[in-house]
Amino acid sequence: MDALPVVPQRLLPEPGAVTAIQALEGLALADLATDHRPYLVLTMVATVDGAAAVAHRPAPLSNPADRQLFQELRAHVDAVMVGAGTVRTERYGRLVRDPARRQRRAARGLTPDPLAIVVSRRLTLTPDLPLLADSHSRVLVLTTSAAELVGCVAEVSYLRPAPGGEVDLSAMLARLRAEYGVRSVLCEGGPTLNTSLPAW
Ligand SMILES: NC(=O)c1ccc[n+]([C@@H]2O[C@H](COP(=O)([O-])OP(=O)(O)OC[C@H]3O[C@@H](n4cnc5c(N)ncnc54)[C@H](OP(=O)(O)O)[C@@H]3O)[C@@H](O)[C@H]2O)c1
Repeated sequence: MDALPVVPQRLLPEPGAVTAIQALEGLALADLATDHRPYLVLTMVATVDGAAAVAHRPAPLSNPADRQLFQELRAHVDAVMVGAGTVRTERYGRLVRDPARRQRRAARGLTPDPLAIVVSRRLTLTPDLPLLADSHSRVLVLTTSAAELVGCVAEVSYLRPAPGGEVDLSAMLARLRAEYGVRSVLCEGGPTLNTSLPAW
């Protein structure tokens, strides 16, 4: 038997069924940034007992409506931030593949593709990762490693703390605001990266 379709229900201000586009309308995350840091939002799915993956994949925890919301959130932010573990496991590629979604970004005054921010200590990312092999993607790597990725097709740049320092995400996010003009960041996990997010 086919599973019943899942239709997101909005509770406020007016209850009713909504599409992912309608659910996120008017989010205006950039307006919530300060001069000193971007506005940071986190998206995750989890089981009620706190698991973030089944056999190393989150897909069994979600449904098509979740996935629509997940993708549509990417149409609202300057940058998407993700830990290297998730990039490797999920084989991240171009963040916004749907041309209509890129148009919705452009209509909001955003670049067609968000900046991809990858957080890594060891920088063990191979150039065949779809994100790094994509000519449309701009990738900023927050890393303590002095190494550089070779053979990438994507435009890759690096943001590093002072030598000997850790990736202090509070300081890094402040630099993203000041040096890159980033006003909104969508963090997509995973659990390890989430534990280093600043509380502010
Ligand atoms: N349920 C969900 O919504 C959801 C969302 C995302 C991911 N996941 C799942 O979670 C699993 C991956 O979990 P994870 O915790 O290993 O993923 P993760 O947080 O994406 O990746 C961990 C890696 O990210 C880098 N990293 C994270 N925080 C850092 C920091 N403060 N400074 C420097 N580097 C940092 C390190 O990279 P290096 O190893 O390169 O040094 C670290 O090993 C996968 O199974 C994935 O599918 C689930």
